[in-house]
Amino acid sequence: MLYFGNPMKKIKAKIAGVQGYVPDDVLSNTDLEKMVDTNDEWIQSRTGISERRILKGEGLGTSDMAKIAVEQLLEKTNTKPEDVELLICATVTPDMVFPATANIISDKASLKNAASFDVGAACSGFLYALSVGKQFIENNTYKKVIVVGADKMSSIVDYTDRTTCVLFGDGAGAILLEPSESDDLGVQDIILKADGSGRHHLHQKAGGSVRPASIETVKNREHFIYQEGAPVFKFAVTRMADVAEEMMLKHNLTGDDVAWLVPHQANKRIIDATARRMGLNADKVMLNIGKFGNTTAATIPLCLWEWENKLNQGDKIILTAFGGGFTWASALVHWAY
Ligand code: UT7
Repeated sequence: MLYFGNPMKKIKAKIAGVQGYVPDDVLSNTDLEKMVDTNDEWIQSRTGISERRILKGEGLGTSDMAKIAVEQLLEKTNTKPEDVELLICATVTPDMVFPATANIISDKASLKNAASFDVGAACSGFLYALSVGKQFIENNTYKKVIVVGADKMSSIVDYTDRTTCVLFGDGAGAILLEPSESDDLGVQDIILKADGSGRHHLHQKAGGSVRPASIETVKNREHFIYQEGAPVFKFAVTRMADVAEEMMLKHNLTGDDVAWLVPHQANKRIIDATARRMGLNADKVMLNIGKFGNTTAATIPLCLWEWENKLNQGDKIILTAFGGGFTWASALVHWAY
């Protein structure tokens, strides 16, 4: 058998393009003041959020936002839909329990030859999905993989609960993974963590196999997000910084070496604490929580999309997240273009 290339050479996966989509409708803090007992000052000072985007329209779901992000990603990277071999979608707001939202996105974006499945790791979902996509490139199974993080959080937010309704928004982001030409460019490492004993602090109580939908579950508002903010905050603020710091120590990086931190956007206070622990100034931190809120699986790709023009080839960037599960994760990416 003829073999082209060095059999010992490990293929790396690179991010070859990124695209985001947020709906046009804005839900501001002032709007929320009219819905629940809250105020702009509390929301801004406790979370850093001013407004979020909401997907409105009968029959529209997570896949409809993701479809737009994927189609625009294909266009900007000159990728033919039929050349995509795998699409992975991270979401906690699937269009429906089954089939996978990834299947629906692939159909809507005409990815006729793509295998597709969903990954569930809540706010860490994008990094978990990235870790899967990366391995399909590294082991030479596929050459074009799309990883999507998308959530229509407004579909599971209780707009009578002031402790959660101020936090979340809707959006979608997608990246294209391809084999990197250089070992030194692309996704270098990913650390994944989970602790299922934390699940009781942040979850959706009904709608699964333990508590299927019933008149009672609807009456009890059990299909909405349930979050105990304070314990989640305590875990998030330490774990997200821990896993980012672990990545830096593992690769002998100082704050000066890191060009950008791309943190999950749950609370600006958590992001600030993470940046402080990493020795990074605020000007190296991607932040979109102010205008988009917490878009769950979409926060990280939406940041990358908005900062794409400021990124340079070789930039060392650290992506980090914490979310329901509990799950948390970090990735070291050397930006490829
Ligand atoms: O992305 C997935 C992971 N999720 C997270 O990382 C979220 C982590 N948690 C948080 O970000 C914060 O805990 C919250 C932003 C959710 C809440 O902030 P907090 O500083 O932890 O507030 P708290 O829950 O301790 O509540 C403080 C006070 C309470 O009043 P009392 O009991 O002291 O009288 C709340 O009832 O603030 C009250 N409060 C509000 N007041 C005005 C809670 N929500 C609101 C509100 N407006 N929207």
